[in-house]
Amino acid sequence: MKNITVIGAGTMGNGIAHVFAMNGFHVNLVDMNPTSLEKALATITKNLDRMVAKGGIDEAKKSETLANLHPTTSIESCAPTSDLIVEAATENVEIKLSIFRQMDALAPAHCILATNTSSISITKIAAVTNRPEQVIGMHFMNPVPVMKLVEVIRGYSTSNEVCSQIMELSRNLGKVPVEVNDYPGFVANRILMPMINEAIYTLFEGVGGVEEIDTVMKLGMAHPMGPLQLADFIGLDVCLAILHVLHDGFGNPKYAPCPLLVNMVMAKNLGVKSGKGFYDYSHGGKELVVAPNFKK
Ligand SMILES: NC(=O)c1ccc[n+]([C@@H]2O[C@H](COP(=O)([O-])OP(=O)(O)OC[C@H]3O[C@@H](n4cnc5c(N)ncnc54)[C@H](O)[C@@H]3O)[C@@H](O)[C@H]2O)c1
Repeated sequence: MKNITVIGAGTMGNGIAHVFAMNGFHVNLVDMNPTSLEKALATITKNLDRMVAKGGIDEAKKSETLANLHPTTSIESCAPTSDLIVEAATENVEIKLSIFRQMDALAPAHCILATNTSSISITKIAAVTNRPEQVIGMHFMNPVPVMKLVEVIRGYSTSNEVCSQIMELSRNLGKVPVEVNDYPGFVANRILMPMINEAIYTLFEGVGGVEEIDTVMKLGMAHPMGPLQLADFIGLDVCLAILHVLHDGFGNPKYAPCPLLVNMVMAKNLGVKSGKGFYDYSHGGKELVVAPNFKK
């Protein structure tokens, strides 16, 4: 594999493009929104600068990585020459199905179609293509350049060969792949999202404040980040979308999203990416400041 196309240049897409480009792949980064592409390139450059400053890479590696990156708004221009396409667009089933239909029509026969979805069924996505055995989940973790795990999700029809290729490719990117089966939330989010939802319920019911809940989980359970801060970091819209998939997929009320989470998403308080969630990020500093709605 040489030519990789990453679709979606948001929180995850820029990190995935960064990692492939740093490992010598030719990477087309596609987004329908030119502003997302500009922001993604600025983020990748900033992250590479940080790696240079810390001595992880040198200036030559930074230049080589940037030279491997090709931003574009046109999937038609790059899909026909791709060996692997990794879709990292918005967590919405209709958007993903439409992208996969388009990728299947444009990509060459050997091309593997992967999705970075956090929860949407790989089997459902694969079923809209004519190559379901070549469709697979490649679930990177945020921030992609730092986090080692790739959850590799086998759809119902994914072939052994494609699964082995993606496991090997993930290792070549310096990651640790773990193979799992295709059920709602896979492993990572089936366990994580109920915890985040429960933390939001705990806040909603007044059992504890934002700082208290996060401190209990950080100091008491040795989590590097409290669940409310983590929800802000993931994006509250992404968390809500995953909870809907778990709720619909299992039909169990224990996965019903907390009404506070629903309200925050409707109010566009989405966490880090919108500047406000459980914490307020508008000051631009590293310090954690509780959002005005949750101040005592
Ligand atoms: N945020 C996380 O921590 C996280 C972690 C793991 C996986 N994921 C998954 O990764 C995927 C992307 O999430 P994100 O947090 O980066 O979202 P995001 O909202 O930050 O970015 C999504 C990007 O997709 C673009 N997009 C939407 N429709 C498109 C289309 N048809 N063609 C091209 N671009 C399109 C948008 O313009 C946007 O730039 C989702 O499936 C999500 O569940 C997210």
